[in-house]
Parts: sequence; C-alpha cells; structure tokens
Amino acid sequence: MDINIALIGYGVVNSGVHKIISSQQYQWREKYGIFPVIHSISVKHPEKHEDISDLLTSTQEIISNPQIHIIIEAISESTHLLDILQAFQNGKHVISANKKFIAENFDELTSTATQFDVNFLYEASVCAVIPIINILSKQIGIQKLSSIKGVFNGTCNFILNQLEDGNSFSEALKNAQHKGYAEQNPSSDIDGLDTAYKLFILSKIIDSDIEWDDITIRGIRNIDVSIIQNAIKNQERVKLIAEYDLIENKLSVSPQVVTIDNPLYNLIKEENGVIISGETSGDIYIQGRGAGSLPTANAIVQNLIDIILEVDIHEDYLHAISKLGSE
Ligand SMILES: NC(=O)c1ccc[n+]([C@@H]2O[C@H](COP(=O)([O-])OP(=O)(O)OC[C@H]3O[C@@H](n4cnc5c(N)ncnc54)[C@H](OP(=O)(O)O)[C@@H]3O)[C@@H](O)[C@H]2O)c1
Repeated sequence: MDINIALIGYGVVNSGVHKIISSQQYQWREKYGIFPVIHSISVKHPEKHEDISDLLTSTQEIISNPQIHIIIEAISESTHLLDILQAFQNGKHVISANKKFIAENFDELTSTATQFDVNFLYEASVCAVIPIINILSKQIGIQKLSSIKGVFNGTCNFILNQLEDGNSFSEALKNAQHKGYAEQNPSSDIDGLDTAYKLFILSKIIDSDIEWDDITIRGIRNIDVSIIQNAIKNQERVKLIAEYDLIENKLSVSPQVVTIDNPLYNLIKEENGVIISGETSGDIYIQGRGAGSLPTANAIVQNLIDIILEVDIHEDYLHAISKLGSE
C-alpha cells in the first residue's frame, strides 16, 4: 500500500527527509508492507528548486488534497496555525520540526489533533536525533520523574568553547556564524529562547498546565567570561542548561557550571545531551546530534515509522487510511 507524504519546506531538514525516505522505501515495503511516496512539496521560492519542480505545489493544495495522508512540516518561518488545524480536520497526520511554532501553539495543536483523531508528532523539534519525546512520553507512565536537565543548543556549545579558548564574545559569535553554527540574527540561540522552546515542549508532555512564563530564561549574551575561565581552572565548564526540576516545580534556562564527571561536560558543537532522573530508573542519559540535515531528518522519520506501525497494528485504521487513498 502506498502512503502519500507531502513536505512543507524543502531546506536543510526536509531535503534530508527526502533522502532518507528515497533510500529506505523499498525496504519499508518488505518490512511494513507500506511504500512511502513523496507526493508533493511546497516551498517559499519555487524558482530555487528546479530539481524537484515536478513535485512542487502550494501549501493550500497539500492541505486540501485527499490523496495525501501525512504532512511533514519543516519551514524556517512560523507556519500558519490555521493551515495545520485545517490539515488535521482533513484527516492528515502532521509531523513537525518547527519548535517555535509548536511551543507557541502547543495546546491548540495537540487538542485539535486529538479531536480529529490524527497524529501530531514532533520528535525532531527537541534535540533532533535524540528520541527524547518518545522516551519521556513512556517514562511519565512508568515512574515519578524528579528532573530533566540538558544541553539543547549547539550554537551556545560552540560559542562557550570559543570563550574557553580565550576569544571575546563578539569573536566567538563571528566564528560561530562563519562556520554556520549561528544564524545572522543569533538572538534566539544566545538569548536562550531556542533552548526554552524545547524545554517548554518537553515540560508540556509532563504537565499540560505549564505556561511559557513559568520558565526563567537567561542566555549567554551577557555571560561573565571570568566565570568560564575560573571554571576551566577547576576542571569544570559552563554550559547553557535547560532544567525542569519537578520536585521544586521550577523551569529554567541558564548558564551553569558543570563538573568533569557530568556527562554534559564533554558536549561540543551540535551535540545535545539530556539527563532524565526518576524514582525507579535513576539517571538516564542520552546524547546525540541536536542539529543538521540527516540527524534531524532521522527524528522525523522516527515519527513516520510510529505512524506506519500504528497503521500496521490497528486494522480499523488501515481500513480508514486505504479508504482515504482510494478517494
Ligand atoms: N536545521 C536544523 O538542524 C534543525 C534542527 C531541528 C529543527 N529545525 C527546525 O526545522 C525547521 C526547518 O529548518 P531548516 O534548517 O530546514 O530551514 P531552511 O534550510 O532555512 O529551510 C526552510 C524551508 O522552508 C521553506 N519555507 C519558508 N517559508 C515558507 C512558507 N511560508 N511556505 C512554504 N515553505 C516555506 C523555504 O523555502 P525556500 O527554499 O523556497 O526558501 C525552505 O525550503 C525550522 O523550524 C527549524 O527550527 C531545524
């Protein structure tokens, strides 16, 4: 059975998704009995994308086309909320990597997807390849968690490493931009917002009552370089840490000193790491690439497989989706 997938956006992330799906589709047919097809793609500047011109269409056409089962959204702007809500209403599953959009509209997105009985999955939006959302969603049913703590932003890793090497903040930022780790407008990263969006998404999975204003956010823009130099003398490092302390019910993003025995100590560049601490598990530590085309696409494809496995498990659903395909 073919499953038709549409991509909204075709940049770093969704071109990686296309690559992975194209390389795996015949194996999926053997393994899952399902053949994923990239049916159509919408972008902002169609003239830039001659290589995929036969697949290009508008976002509106994707949302209203009954042949499309799954939409993968990875655009650089905030998506129009109404478009995604309409997609749910039209029976489409949506996978998104767009952390800012998800954080800003979390309640409405998740409740509307539930209302229309479709999946809204967003593994790639937090720490890219690390399957933290999958793990966390299961852990909250297994045990009482005490904290989630991690490094969620590679740009800040890079800049902090540069400061350790004796560069000034503006030199460190310039080097990060030169190497492609930081955007021309780096404020979302260095002011801690990017990290906070990810922390917010994780915290909403645990407690739906959490509000954005519950997070105290301090980035690295005004960091005191002497703290970094002192940390090095003590064989410690400063990292931009996202933390949800479930005992004290406190959420924060702030630069913190980490000791050499902390697994977050060694993270460099785009590497992210998360420590989940709970009553029965103790500490669970996961590390992986928090950015980049294929690592982020890998997380999206993890969600795609979740949907496909669900198709496999629930016969009603299989029936429903094949009905959709034949319309
Ligand atoms: N890059 C990463 O490592 C990473 C990791 C995790 C999450 N994310 C998230 O994934 C999303 C995409 O990131 P990216 O790095 O792939 O960005 P990107 O390389 O800048 O690509 C963005 C794509 O979005 C398209 N686009 C922009 N506005 C659009 C609109 N209104 N309608 C349709 N398409 C539109 C662009 O079209 P044109 O090509 O025609 O300009 C482009 O293809 C972002 O939300 C980002 O936060 C990225």
